[in-house]
Amino acid sequence: METNQFTLQRKTFVVTGGTRGLGLEISRSLLSQGATVLICSRNSSDVAHCVEMLSDECDLQSSNKKTSANNDDERVLGCCCDVSTSEGRQALCVNVEEAFGGGLDGLINNVGFNSPMKIGQQTELEYREVSSEEPIGLEFWRLR
Ligand SMILES: NC(=O)c1ccc[n+]([C@@H]2O[C@H](COP(=O)([O-])OP(=O)(O)OC[C@H]3O[C@@H](n4cnc5c(N)ncnc54)[C@H](OP(=O)(O)O)[C@@H]3O)[C@@H](O)[C@H]2O)c1
Repeated sequence: METNQFTLQRKTFVVTGGTRGLGLEISRSLLSQGATVLICSRNSSDVAHCVEMLSDECDLQSSNKKTSANNDDERVLGCCCDVSTSEGRQALCVNVEEAFGGGLDGLINNVGFNSPMKIGQQTELEYREVSSEEPIGLEFWRLR
């Protein structure tokens, strides 16, 4: 039985936009702590490439550490979807349900729009785009 309540071993996470930038690094970090991670982006070949790359990194890490944690399981999963659309979010939810059942531990809702401007310098449209990015947490909540 696991006694360390702060471990991520066997914890399951979704990282939206996990193929580049911050999402990729967050995924890498979660995996290095023993978590199982499902990443998504809109580009299927990027998703496939990242799943393979991160899986290889996990294999290397566990053979270096000589641990058996989660070795038998797939630790990295991928889903190609556009989370800015209702269909894309539904597809992600279906993938999460198939991969983890009801057992999702964390959602890193990383996809978003960033305008590198001070709020007072944004146009009305830019402000709306930044502030109206739809949250997807509720759709996971409805699945449970
Ligand atoms: N980098 C910064 O300095 C900074 C600063 C403040 C806040 N942020 C915030 O941090 C987050 C990540 O930033 P980043 O710089 O790491 O971005 P990034 O390098 O552009 O990566 C974005 C990731 O999200 C995916 N993505 C974008 N739109 C998507 C969609 N509709 N559906 C599914 N996947 C989508 C991209 O893949 P595809 O394009 O292939 O789909 C990619 O994997 C954003 O929310 C950003 O606003 C970043």
